[in-house]
Amino acid sequence: QEVHAAEFERTFIAVKPDGVQRGLSHRNCGVMRCGNHSTTILQPPMRDAISEIISRFERKGYKLVGIKVVVPTKEFAGKHYHALKDKPFFNGLSEFLSSGPVVAMVWEGEGVITYGRKLIGATDPQKSEPGTIRGDLAVVVGRNIIHGSDGPETAKDEINLWFKPEELVSFTSNAEKWIY
Ligand code: TYD
Repeated sequence: QEVHAAEFERTFIAVKPDGVQRGLSHRNCGVMRCGNHSTTILQPPMRDAISEIISRFERKGYKLVGIKVVVPTKEFAGKHYHALKDKPFFNGLSEFLSSGPVVAMVWEGEGVITYGRKLIGATDPQKSEPGTIRGDLAVVVGRNIIHGSDGPETAKDEINLWFKPEELVSFTSNAEKWIY
């Protein structure tokens, strides 16, 4: 009984456009300038961060119950970040989130909201511990590659904003059936 209740905790996780796209076009340019860019590249070269992010949540034992790729409108991005609408970076942030594909996901499991934030690391990648997603894969705050709900209320709101109920599945894995 308890297992099922705890398991039902859900959080909204998104790989932002920089996590989805950075490896795609200029695989070999790094923190230095490259011929294809007029400005300095802010992140080291690597493959796209989607599989890396999914595998870290999966490895921990959380369950993926919804996933899709979307390019949000700027208005939608503004809704997602509505709590930050008075911040000076709000406009740039909304523009950035709507600048390309986002991998929107819902993850489920005991403690997934709080522990998801631990896996993600501090907002500013310069302050994220090594071993966290942002600590290992990102360099600057405006391009920190991943979003995760910061509490139960925002988790509920964000899941409702990004997903229709029928886009989420509820299932018990065979492994869980065998264990419990
Ligand atoms: P916030 O909700 O404070 O952080 P988190 O994503 O860790 O929950 O901010 C949302 C995003 O806004 C953050 O991921 C990156 C961006 N941001 C900036 O661009 N500049 C800033 O100074 C801050 C605090 C955030």
